[in-house]
Amino acid sequence: MSEAVYPVPEEWARTALVDEARYAEMYRRSVEDSDAFWREEAARLDWIKPFTTVQETSFDEADFGIRWFGDGTLNLAANALDRHLAERGDTVAIIWEPDSPDEPARRITYRELHADVCRFANLLKARGVRKGDRVTIYLPMVPEAAVAMLACARIGAIHSVVFGGFSPDSLASRIEDCDSTVVLTADEGLRGGKAVPLKANVDVALAKLPSVHTVVVLKRTGGAVTMQDGRDIDWHQDVSAQSDDCTAEEMGAEDPLFILYTSGSTGKPKGVLHTTGGYGLWASMTHRYVFDYRPGQIYWCTADVGWVTGHSYIVYGPLMNGATTLMFEGVPNYPDPSRFWQVIDKHQVEIFYTAPTALRALMREGDDYVTRTSRKSLRLLGSVGEPINPEAWEWYHRVVGERRCPIVDTWWQTETGATLISPLPGATPLKPGSASKPMFGVKPMLVTSEGVPIEGAGEGCLVITDSWPGQMRTVWGDHERFFQTYFSTFKGLYFTGDGCRRDEDGYYWITGRIDDVINVSGHRMGTAEIESALVAHAKVAEAAVVGMPHAIKGQGIYAFVTTNADVHPDDALRKELVQWVRQEIGPIATPDVIQFAPGLPKTRSGKIMRRILRKIGENDVGNLGDTSTLADPGVVDHLLENRPGG
Ligand code: WT7
Repeated sequence: MSEAVYPVPEEWARTALVDEARYAEMYRRSVEDSDAFWREEAARLDWIKPFTTVQETSFDEADFGIRWFGDGTLNLAANALDRHLAERGDTVAIIWEPDSPDEPARRITYRELHADVCRFANLLKARGVRKGDRVTIYLPMVPEAAVAMLACARIGAIHSVVFGGFSPDSLASRIEDCDSTVVLTADEGLRGGKAVPLKANVDVALAKLPSVHTVVVLKRTGGAVTMQDGRDIDWHQDVSAQSDDCTAEEMGAEDPLFILYTSGSTGKPKGVLHTTGGYGLWASMTHRYVFDYRPGQIYWCTADVGWVTGHSYIVYGPLMNGATTLMFEGVPNYPDPSRFWQVIDKHQVEIFYTAPTALRALMREGDDYVTRTSRKSLRLLGSVGEPINPEAWEWYHRVVGERRCPIVDTWWQTETGATLISPLPGATPLKPGSASKPMFGVKPMLVTSEGVPIEGAGEGCLVITDSWPGQMRTVWGDHERFFQTYFSTFKGLYFTGDGCRRDEDGYYWITGRIDDVINVSGHRMGTAEIESALVAHAKVAEAAVVGMPHAIKGQGIYAFVTTNADVHPDDALRKELVQWVRQEIGPIATPDVIQFAPGLPKTRSGKIMRRILRKIGENDVGNLGDTSTLADPGVVDHLLENRPGG
């Protein structure tokens, strides 16, 4: 572990919204006098009807429930757009940088975005979409993705954004799970110069879903698409006929805003549900404090809107704060590994927020791609999605930020809505690799695997002891699963699934998932999902998937596969299975290693001993632990002897 500590730069301490003393005071108040604290913070939103109740929550089974500002009403699209019009209608809300630097960027003002959102909201209404209906968004990284989300929010429809890298099957199951009847997509997406056949994927997904009555198709590349009469309509053609006047629906604070599917340790992906008031407050408040955001600053988060980071820190948080948010369609290494830094110079980006996996990939290309750019506009850097190794942190700090930019390493989850643990740039001395301190109102705790609280310095399972406004409210359609997944492991506590260390200074160091979830390039995946994709193949009898260390992706996917007895496992089958998983789930789930195994290590009761497989995946085979309870210990020797490259 790196022992370095970087003090708060003097200028930051002097000018930041929150300095060290203020953080301590605000944090104390947020937990000791929380209702009063939240009443004040919630004033950053425009409420239609002010709330009188603040926190009504319990993590206990008997009276389980999570409600914040329950009797207030508001609309988040109005919070993101309408209220800025008088003061900064002509300020740029979204800068769009396309995949190719040869294509012109777009700059969309708050006034224009407001009109676009209203027109699209009217289009949705014309297709019968009403408050509470679900709308699936399967779009590339274009401003229309934000327009679509905000149009849903404006009329009270619940959006479910599905990442463009998911397969038709994954898309179909997400449409089906929430009974969405409208899908918004584009002819093709464009990433790194390659076209992604979004509309064709939608067509495959919808072949078995006749309940979808409307598909709105945005023209992005002009690639050929087939349009189904009555169901498919052209985005631009139909939107241009709409009025740009659309009243924002009055939403209850606890009315749903969006569903976002995420992977867990068991079963199929869960529809994480976020509601309006608490989520809105959490996204805007954390964006303001964590990035010390001041109107006028150019801010860039490189995530995709298909993930929660894009929801909270490209769209909702920044726009509620009147920010200029940059949306990038492309990838870090196209046309070359200088792309990020060139975009920063081109648009004079001041705040830059990206993922460790991208930093590791770029670091490998050498400093020259960075140092040949200016980056003088940068003042703050952020990291999100997975633990950042100190080497990558130091490189980010020294080479990208030229030692003048603090780095905020933000720890959070789809379930938490937005950041829970992070440094504040004017308040927190930085330790490379540590997410450091809790956000206001967040009460982290470490417990042993038996649930015994750990005081002071130590390592254990990370739980949160009390609710915060941005917490997810339920799993769509399965409230029982919500309770079981997060609140039953440790009674009365929210279990994050992460391991964590706390040092002598009270800094939190996330060590990674301790459940059967792996984090591949910042993308979260359930090993069970990949296993069920593998066993769906006709030649596969059984499969077990574990994470393996990967220099760039953080974790890679290591699959142990037992074929049917009459199958001869060879390289051709290995390739076939890799293709199969890509097709079943999507390219993000591409296995890195497939090891054929005539048998998997099982206990006498038939349970796979994943602990042993994890060790093999990690290439940590010196100490496999107790193998005496295995039904057939010889299986392990076979696995060890036949490790690919091992
Ligand atoms: C998991 C959540 C955070 C939004 C994007 C990912 C890991 C996330 C960090 C960080 C260490 C991190 C955790 C968490 N994670 N940020 N700064 N340091 N680990 O959201 O897909 O729901 O994944 O990502 O393991 O549980 P997600």
